[in-house]
Amino acid sequence: MKAVKNTVVAVLAVSAAVLVGGYASAQSTTVKDGVYTVEQAAAGKELYERRCGACHNADFYKTAFTNRNNQPLQYMFEEILVNMPADTPGSMMDSEYEIVFAHILSLVGYPAGDTELNYGNGSMADISVVPPGN
Ligand code: HEC
Repeated sequence: MKAVKNTVVAVLAVSAAVLVGGYASAQSTTVKDGVYTVEQAAAGKELYERRCGACHNADFYKTAFTNRNNQPLQYMFEEILVNMPADTPGSMMDSEYEIVFAHILSLVGYPAGDTELNYGNGSMADISVVPPGN
């Protein structure tokens, strides 16, 4: 009987660990976890410089990311998608906004990784903003 009881306790403990672990990883993806690729950032450079560079610099974006601490990355992306470039809002394709945003992430100093930044699959909703440089 004691052995059965210990087994039950062990199974419960493992289940709890799986639950806690799953919860923690779902909550903890941040913009510092490599959420865009080097290729995307490079692809967005020319477009960024042509369409955004005249009005903003890296310090501007650092402030914008700091102001959006803890928000889903998607909020900031959608702000850009709808309102930028301020002189011709919404004038680019989603895929162009993605590579421009990847370039901005690299400008600010967030690390690149293996996963492409992708608006269409909804993954940006699960990425939290944390201030650059911390
Ligand atoms: C003609 C000037 C101009 C151009 C071009 C321009 N912006 Fe903006 N941008 C603004 C203004 C004005 C604001 C709002 C006022 C502010 O926050 O300073 C703004 C705000 C922003 C913000 C802050 C959003 C927030 O709430 O966090 C971001 C990020 C941004 N722009 C990105 C871009 C990107 C990316 C491009 C190119 C696709 C771009 N901008 C092109 C003028 C411009």
